[in-house]
This record gives sequence, structure tokens and C-alpha cells, in this order.
Amino acid sequence: MSIIVNEKELFFTLRTANSEYQIKADKFGVLKHIWYGEITGRDMDYLLHRPDVGFSGSIYEADNRRAYSLDTMPLEYPCGGVGDFRVPAICVTHSDGSTALDLRFKEYCIKSGKYAIPQLPAVYSEKSEAQTLEITLRDTASETEVVLRYGVLEDKDIITRSAEIRNFGEKEIFIKKAASLCLELPQGKWEWIHFHGRHAMERQTERTPIIHGIQESSSLRGTSSHQQNPSFIICSPDCGENHGECYGAFFVYSGSFKTQIEYDQLKQTRAVMGINPDIFGWSLKGGENFFTPEAVMTYSGAGFSPLSQNFHRVIRENICRGKYKLTERPVLINNWEATYFDFDGDKILRIAEEAAKLGVDMLVLDDGWFGKRNDDCSGLGDWFVNEEKLKGSLGVLVEKIKKLGLKFGIWFEPEMISEDSDLYRAHPDWAIAIPGRKPTRARYQLVLDMSRKDVRDYLYDSIGKILKSADISYVKWDANRSICDWYSAELSPERQCELPHRYVLGLYELLERLTSDFPNVLFEGCSGGGGRFDAGMLYYYPQIWCSDDTDAYERTKIQYGTSFIYPISAVGSHISVVPNHQTGRITPIESRAVTAMAGSFGYELDLGSLSDEEKGLVSQQIKSFKKYGPLIHNGKYYRLSNPMTENSALWEFVSEDKSEALIQGMIFRKIPNMKRISVKAEGLSPDSFYRIEGSDELYTGKALMCGGILLDDMWGDYRAVEIHLIKNNADN
Ligand code: GLA
Repeated sequence: MSIIVNEKELFFTLRTANSEYQIKADKFGVLKHIWYGEITGRDMDYLLHRPDVGFSGSIYEADNRRAYSLDTMPLEYPCGGVGDFRVPAICVTHSDGSTALDLRFKEYCIKSGKYAIPQLPAVYSEKSEAQTLEITLRDTASETEVVLRYGVLEDKDIITRSAEIRNFGEKEIFIKKAASLCLELPQGKWEWIHFHGRHAMERQTERTPIIHGIQESSSLRGTSSHQQNPSFIICSPDCGENHGECYGAFFVYSGSFKTQIEYDQLKQTRAVMGINPDIFGWSLKGGENFFTPEAVMTYSGAGFSPLSQNFHRVIRENICRGKYKLTERPVLINNWEATYFDFDGDKILRIAEEAAKLGVDMLVLDDGWFGKRNDDCSGLGDWFVNEEKLKGSLGVLVEKIKKLGLKFGIWFEPEMISEDSDLYRAHPDWAIAIPGRKPTRARYQLVLDMSRKDVRDYLYDSIGKILKSADISYVKWDANRSICDWYSAELSPERQCELPHRYVLGLYELLERLTSDFPNVLFEGCSGGGGRFDAGMLYYYPQIWCSDDTDAYERTKIQYGTSFIYPISAVGSHISVVPNHQTGRITPIESRAVTAMAGSFGYELDLGSLSDEEKGLVSQQIKSFKKYGPLIHNGKYYRLSNPMTENSALWEFVSEDKSEALIQGMIFRKIPNMKRISVKAEGLSPDSFYRIEGSDELYTGKALMCGGILLDDMWGDYRAVEIHLIKNNADN
């Protein structure tokens, strides 16, 4: 039983294997947050001390109890306008123009299984794996209700949150803000980690103390963005990979978001995450309801490793779907960095021939195969094959590639439109633009209004037609710009503020249709690399191209940040040529290989341009990935060093039964006249004996974890590390 209720006290406890979350509705019906953290064996409300703080008023019913203030107490879903002056979770405007909402407990229910959210991606589970707590709150003055939903996946240490806003009145209300999560930490001094960046430099980790006032990370770009990721970690100052307390949360949403973290006058921390209210509004007529997207939380009392492992597991098993969610992914070769737009059918065939000889599974034809598209100025929207360029039909090319023993995948950028396209000439009003204003162009392109059914139907039909025209096993779904100039010809003026969210709902609807109608196609997400790397997208496709930066050194940092929240199987990562096209850096092919293996693995180059020796290494790498792939994707992931601050990026995968482990990574710079570097393993069975593949010497798990493994002396910079540890058979 993961949800325990004390009926009399209206005290709710959500218990997972290693954490507990406590909520209480007090005698005024105010829903207080009591505790999230270790399982302590008792109700933690004794910690709630309410001082009488000046300028923090009390609710009316509290009479002369001056200390009873919404402004100082931890709340489950704080409302704007009624005396809690901190960051609210919800703000509405009523038909009379007033903006207060005072939500009080009405009722609760417990359901087996995990709730779903209409039109939105969310954690799903077997009925037996999860329970749902629904707490309904009602406004004291209006006909507005909010249902808070908590999903508890006990074994996975996961608690999810989402809210439904219901208008039972006759008159419309306007939702200005509706967050998905409010996490209150009334005790303790905390730091926070968020993941910032830019194109080709996504998810850089930044850890700072939480200071008084509000700090935030957010996106206003219509997508979750390269610049900030919809996820965060709050941790104790001493927290490391395997010690200290930390709380993590990620948002199952692919549009604009905002995370606000407030450290208040009483040194209490509140984190609120949801759709970005700066670019959102929703009119709710009488009888209508609105569902927020989902936020997913975990707590670890033993550092970041368990936090990430919990998230990896729930994303892999309870968010990703479809045929490929847990199976090995094909090793693919993508022609983008090999040819850019400069290719024809023959060139693609030559790349495929070389790839087939070396053991690659699939060729992916990237941008430039459709419409009139020989550079990035034209053609988006014209999803019909450029047969002149391909020297025949797509079906014929695919058959030739299949004869080589390769599967075939193809690139689309469905949400975009070039002004120089037949689609734009026929439907200029399908592009998002404000009448009377020139729209912002980005990469010369405009964005289609995904809130429109006719736009989605066109995309469904044209993409579906291509997918049916040839044996296509994979789709790369790209989106290469941020969105602005929000306006839809189909929405009334008061509803224009709904467009950013309606865009995301439309995108999800189209993805749902295509992924369910083409269940054998592996979809990979992309947005100029990892500009839409979020759990919402992972519900539709199990992997996302992690970054347009394929430089192995830079990638270790991008993938390090990504790994805090997202599983390795979700990380699209390829080996490309040197000097690298984004940085000019030269790294050894072995280092590029281990970095790409910490992902879905593939190549992004013309293998024909490699030396014979390098080709030999490529076929070896593919064999290695086939051997290690199950361990890499199913194993527990550990970060062994911090590439943001150390001279190395090292990580480890440990099989569930601890019978083997793989340490991989890179030492960045050679330091002269230095003793050999040692690396400490994690997650092994302490008393078992392990040997390093290629040697017979035995080490206890404890020796490898406490003492470490001495790395071979290395010559040169960016040297690869790869150590396979195998538990001794004689040992149990
Ligand atoms: C984006 C992607 C690249 C490639 C190009 C094609 O930048 O991230 O991998 O597909 O688009 O235009």
C-alpha cells in the first residue's frame, strides 16, 4: 500500500521504497505540505512551527490566530491573490475581474493504477505497479475546483503530479497560471542544479546555492529548448554522486516551461514547475476543465546516482513506448555531416555500401531529399520525393539499400514551412505569423500552426504517404527553430494566448497518430540537436539526437548533464570525422566511439573516407556495441567523474545482477611525468571477485570501489578508457 490515509486527520502519506511524502488538510481545509524525504516512521507535522510574522496576514477564519498565515506555511498547491505572497502554483481571473482563488479541501479518493492525462503524455504503468491519490479542492467563493493527482510508483521511488482545473460555474474563468508541481522544503539549506546551454551546447550543469528571492529556469521558445531544460535537482550542499540528499523533478512537456525556486523570508524553499505562464492563458467556460501536464519527482538520500537511476528507469519503462522502448537500437549511419545537402542517389548508395561492409544496420537519409531543397532556404513542407536528386523513386533507392543488408530511415521536419515551397504558396495562412507584422525568420523558415487540424491532417497524409511508399524503418523528426509571432487564424482574439499550449497539444496528437499507425518505425526526435530533449517527446519516440555538436570532448559534457535526468538509451550519439565540424578539434576515433556508445550509437560521416586501419576499428566498434549494448541500455548508470571540473569524463554501466560492469570515458589532457590515474568503480558487489577482461588478476568489488583501478599510462590528449569488469564465475 503506497498511499496511506488517516481519515480523521485527513493526513495522506505517499510511500515509496525509499521515500515518503506527507500532506495534510487542516481544520480550515487548507492543504499543507508536511514532508518529502526519508521514511521516518512518523507524521512529520511536529516540525511545522508557525511564527507570527509581520506583513503575513491570516485567513479570515483564523480569527485572532495571527500566526496562521498562508504566507508562511508549506502548501501543496498555493494560490495567487489570497495572502500567500510567494510564488503561486495557480492564478486565475474570474468573470468579475477579481484574481483570488482560495482552494480548500473537498474530498479525496484513491485509485489503483496510475492516472492518465487526456491529450498529454504521462507516466503509465500496470495497474498493480502504481496507485493514484486524487485530492479535490474547491474555491471558497467561486465554482472553481482543482483536482490534484498524485501517482505513486512505489518500487521505482517515483511520485508524479498533475492538476485538473474545473469550472462548474456559468461564467468563464481565465487561467493565467496552472503549475504542475509545487515542492516545498521548509527545512534545510539547499543548492540547485539546472541544465542550461545553447545550440550545440545543451544541458550544461550548473550548481549554485539557492539564495533569498526567486531564481528560475525557463523557456519562452515554444519548445523545451536548448537554453534550459525542463528539469531540476535540489540538493544538500554536501550532496555528491553517492551521498547526500537530493530531490529531482522533470516535466513531461515539450513546450515553454518555467521552474521557479523561491527561498522565502523564513528560509523555506519552494519550487514550482509548469507551463510558462508568461506565454500562456486559457479561457475555461462553465462546464469545462483544463489538465496541466505532468511533473515527475524522486528523492534520494544517497546522492545523485540513485536519483538518476530512478529517473532512467521510469522514463525507459513508464514513459517511452513502442516496439523499441527496451530493445536494442540499430547502429545507424546518417549522411548529414557526410554530405550536408550535396548528395544524390548514387552518393547515398556509396555511403550505404561502405557502411554495410563494416556492419552498420541502417542508413538514414537526412535533410534534402524532398521538394526543392538543396540548401536550407526552401522546400520545407513539400514532403514529396525529389526523384531527380535521388535518381529514381524512393522505393527503388530503399530496395537497393536493403539489398546491401541495411534498413532505411529518413528525415522530416514536419512542423516547419519554407516560404519558397509549394505548401506556402498554397497555404500561406498555415504559417504562424501575426497579420500586419512581418514574422521572424529563423534558418530562413517559418513554423506551421500545429493547433490547426487541417495542418495536422496534411502532415499526417504526406508523411504517411512517404512511409507507405517504401520500406522505411526509422524517422528522424526535426524542428529547427524557436517559435514566436504567436497568432492563429483559427482562434478568437481572447484565445490567442492559448496557442503556445495548443501547438504542443496538436504536435502530440499528430505524433500519437503517426507512431500508433506506424508501430514498426523507430522514431528519433531532434531539434537542431537536443533543443527538445524532454520526457514529453520521449513518450512518442524513445531516442533524441542529443546535440548537433558531435565533438567527442564537448559531447562528454553535454551527455554528462543529460544523464542526470534522461536514460542513456534516449541519447542519440554518433561518431563523426575529425577535425570535428563544430569545433575543429581532433580526438582519437576510440574516444569518439566510447562517447557515442553512451547513447544509441551510430555514425555521421562518409565511412569511405576513412583509412583501412580506421575501417577495421569501425567494424570492431560495431561488434563492441552489439556486445555491450544490452549492458549499456539496461544497466545502472554511474557518473564516475565530473567533466565540467575534472580532467576526465568517466562513467560506468553495471548489470542489474552486478555480474558485469563497463567503465568508459575519456582522459582529456595528458599530464607529463605523473603517476598513473586510478578510477573507482561503483555499484559492484563488494565481496565478490571481479577480473578485468583481458587479464586473469582478481579484485574484490570493494577493492575496485574503494581503491580503484589503475588506468594504463596514456599518450596524447582525449584518450579513451574502456574497462570491462566480469564477476568471477566461481564466485556467487
Ligand atoms: C538539424 C539536425 C541535424 C540535421 C540538420 C538538417 O540541425 O540537428 O542533425 O538533421 O538539422 O538540416
